[in-house]
Amino acid sequence: MFDIISMRDFSKEQILTILDVADDVKRAIHDKAVHGSTFRRRFKRTYGKPLEKLLEDVTAAVMFVENSTRTHYSLRTAVTRAGGYVDGFSSAEETSLKKGETWADTAAMFALYGYNLLAMRTTTEGIPRWTKEFLRQKNEQVQEQHRSLGLPYGYTVPMIINGGDGKNQHPTQCLLDLMTIREIARGEGKGLDGLDVALLNDLKYGRTNASLMSIAHHFDWTLHFAHPQRFGPPQHRLKELQRRGVEMHHHGDDFLSAMRSVFVAYHCRPQKERVGAGEDLMTIKEIGRQTQARYDLLGDKAPYLLHPLPVDAETFEEISYDLIFHPKNFTAFQAANGLYARIAGIALGLEKVKGFFSSSESEVCEEVSLQDLPITEGRQKIIHPRSGYIEHEGIVLDHIPEGRGRRLAGVLGLEHEEVPKVISDYMPSHDGKRRKDMIKIHGQYTLTLQQYQAMALIAPDISVSIIEHGKVVKKVRPQLGSTIEGLVRCGNDACVTNVKKEHVAPKHTVLDVQGTRVVNCHYCEIEETVMDVYKANRFLYIGE
Ligand code: CP
Repeated sequence: MFDIISMRDFSKEQILTILDVADDVKRAIHDKAVHGSTFRRRFKRTYGKPLEKLLEDVTAAVMFVENSTRTHYSLRTAVTRAGGYVDGFSSAEETSLKKGETWADTAAMFALYGYNLLAMRTTTEGIPRWTKEFLRQKNEQVQEQHRSLGLPYGYTVPMIINGGDGKNQHPTQCLLDLMTIREIARGEGKGLDGLDVALLNDLKYGRTNASLMSIAHHFDWTLHFAHPQRFGPPQHRLKELQRRGVEMHHHGDDFLSAMRSVFVAYHCRPQKERVGAGEDLMTIKEIGRQTQARYDLLGDKAPYLLHPLPVDAETFEEISYDLIFHPKNFTAFQAANGLYARIAGIALGLEKVKGFFSSSESEVCEEVSLQDLPITEGRQKIIHPRSGYIEHEGIVLDHIPEGRGRRLAGVLGLEHEEVPKVISDYMPSHDGKRRKDMIKIHGQYTLTLQQYQAMALIAPDISVSIIEHGKVVKKVRPQLGSTIEGLVRCGNDACVTNVKKEHVAPKHTVLDVQGTRVVNCHYCEIEETVMDVYKANRFLYIGE
């Protein structure tokens, strides 16, 4: 089984497999005769079932708390058209969420009633990934309770589909976008690879653009951005694109310039429901509109026009009505593909279509290793007289960057635990060329792996000397692995880790980007440098 939570989780081969199945679903639904056979018969031969029975064991819950026409109803139609059952809600008002219940507990109810697919849309970013993790734990708990009582329990953890989480990701939209772009490209004798694609308008809050940015490298796309001032793509997406070697062109707010050299212009709706205080989306109204006049100016070179829809015809009319029947306006064609792409994604995700691929469910694990350092320093060097001698048991944390010792002591929980210690600030190094901080813990104390992680994050060159009977018996340097948990508060207020009632411990992937250490939120995908986290004092204090 696999989930459809973020396009960052998918390889090129996996995406192409979903698109191939989606193509077959589309042909089977429209059933055009070819070579004496029909797509419908061919579908049954290939997949072992007629399309109407492909999802016959699927019981889906649609959990939507943001408005939706396409995603919500195409998901419902996808499951029922292929023989499954759907229920769910389209507003928090209908549910006990309004009584203060957590999202995770709400989702757990559907899992505990045997639903094997949960499709969700929320304003909270990262909640689909958290839901999956919570449901795994909940399933284990309830399974164990049944086992302990000698009762059978057969429910498994449902597949999760992210139908849009705030400004983060909209992966099934991305799949239908890719399906559409591939169909149009094939019509011109091309494929998905090597295209020039323009991403236009509100790129700051648009999650459909974010998903497309997450896969551009797979297809060697060149991206062209145009947007009103202050509505450009988030920095963390741009940095990721740069790391992946995607060629990018920034056209400022010159939409025409961005559209001149591209195959597809992917426009999007100004996300007025997400703008922050002091942001003026109305500027978009002036410059971000696609009109017949603009298409006339572009002439034969006009790109195909895509848009995830809906168009906000009330406030922005970002695709003007005079373009609605323009031959290059493929937006309705695109939206219709949502049905086929979602049937394909569900069938593959739930292994109703076998043998194509299965994803390994990625678990974030805490990782830190302790590199042994030679014990070369004598007693006099380790036990610096200015910070007090450790006569018996203790730990010396050395080579902490100057000025960070007190913060590190707080993060390690040494203040909270009232551990006897001396913190020395701005100590000269042996050669006198640099300065450093030191922490000396007096008495018996055992450091946890999480504390080692915190040290490696805040003070990468730290050395930890364990002292027994006044002698250094072990000296190590903690080396950070690829992930950290419970150490950094995510800087994105919309992240699920910042929703108090959900009780989600922050998790981050740690990356070294050209010598700069950055942390990437496991849930909402926001990336920050460790220095940014340090400056904003968003380290979590262990034990508090
Ligand atoms: N494209 C899209 O997500 O549309 P809805 O908001 O109508 O679901």
